This record gives sequence, C-alpha cells and structure tokens, in this order.
Amino acid sequence: MDLIKLSNVSKSFKGISLFSNVNVSFKEGKIYGIKGHNGSGKSVLFKMICGFINPDDGEIVIDSKYMKNDNDFPENFGVIIDRPGFIGSKTGLENLKSLASIKGEISEKEICMAMEAVGLDPSIKQKMRNYSLGMKQKIAVAQSFMENQSVLILDEPFNALDVDSVKKIRNLLLGFKKEGKTIILTSHNQEDLDFLCDEQMRINNYTLESYESTLKI
Ligand SMILES: Nc1ncnc2c1ncn2[C@@H]1O[C@H](COP(=O)(O)OP(=O)(O)OP(=O)(O)O)[C@@H](O)[C@H]1O
Ligand SMILES: [Mg+2]
Repeated sequence: MDLIKLSNVSKSFKGISLFSNVNVSFKEGKIYGIKGHNGSGKSVLFKMICGFINPDDGEIVIDSKYMKNDNDFPENFGVIIDRPGFIGSKTGLENLKSLASIKGEISEKEICMAMEAVGLDPSIKQKMRNYSLGMKQKIAVAQSFMENQSVLILDEPFNALDVDSVKKIRNLLLGFKKEGKTIILTSHNQEDLDFLCDEQMRINNYTLESYESTLKI
C-alpha cells in the first residue's frame, strides 16, 4: 500500500495550470525530494496532500491508518508549508507549547528536546516577533517533528538556515529515516536533495517527474 497516492490529479488557479493528470505515489520509510521553479506548484502540491486544498480533478489517497477520526487532515503528519505563522508576542517555547496543547500528547521536556535538536536554546526569553528568520525556521522545523510525527511534509525546511544548522537538520532528518519515518521535502538546493533523498522529482510540464541527480533544472 502506498502511503500517499495521487491519481490523475489536476489543479489550476484562474487559468494558471499547475498540474495536469499527475500520477505519483510515495512509499513509507523513504525520503523524497521535490524541486521546481518559483510558482511551479510545490506548496500547492503539499497543501493538496495535507487536505488544505482540493484538486480540481483526480484524487489523493492517504493510507487509511493516517486518516482516522473523520478528519480531513492526516493524523501523525508533521508539516511546514510556506512561511508558518506564529504568535509574535510569545516566545518560541510558548508557541510550541500552545501547539502541543491541542493534542496534549507531549511534555514540556519533549518540546525543549525538539528545540535543542534544531539548535535553539529553549530558555531564551525573546518574543518570536524578534526572532531572526533562521530562528523562526528552526521553530517551524521543531514543531513538525516534536510530537514524533511519522510523516514529515517539509516545504523548504532549510530556508534561511546557516551552514552548520543545515548540516544539523540534514542529520536529524536522516536519523528520522532510520527510525522509519517518511519525509517529503522541497528544496531549491540540489546538494540538500542529493544528500538526503532516496528519490528526487521535479515539477515539469504540469507533472512530477523523477530524475537522476546529475540532471539539473
Ligand atoms: N490560493 C490560491 N489562489 C490563487 N492562486 C494561487 C493560490 N495558491 C497558489 N496560487 C498560485 O499557484 C502558483 C504556484 O504556487 P506555489 O506557492 O505552489 O509555488 P511554489 O512552487 O511553492 O513556489 P516557491 O518556490 O516560490 O515557493 C503560483 O502562481 C501562485 O500564485
Ligand atoms: Mg513554495
């Protein structure tokens, strides 16, 4: 059974065609990388996979074990799409605690561990409105996996990160794969894709095509 299967998926916005008859599937336990030019539809693709927007045609089926409780949003998916929004008047830890309180499954200690894993000190008192771009990005990455989500949908997870932080988070993601997690990420950086991904795809001609990493857009 495929974890995520897109069948004949088409999507356009007001005359801008993004996807036409896309057939692709993602299997458990692998890291997939997707690249494509600005505006080619990467974030739209992730929003469709997560059920935030619907395809115009075709269907997206998520393995039923992730679709419990009649929820449109798959369970146990950790997600970063576009620029995540946080509450500027709260610290990073407070933001993550609010998010974690929705499910109530993890302790403050586990949230702090997720922050430390991405290189953030949980005890810093700065409000998130004063965080740098890279610090905000690290909070976004931390929220995507802090509840031990088994599928990570990460739209440009390395955005705004310095070289050492990129290395740290690359290794974190590889560790997640060893634990059996599935990761689908987008990146404009071929090196990140080469380092991490079992399979690479690019958006071309309104579809997703697999390619070997020596080929570049
Ligand atoms: N809700 C919407 N209504 C209308 N058009 C939209 C909507 N969401 C996305 N689009 C358009 O769809 C196209 C693809 O957008 P998307 O954000 O998926 O691009 P992307 O590949 O993620 O680009 P980037 O590399 O800049 O992040 C863009 O032309 C965008 O303007
Ligand atoms: Mg995008």
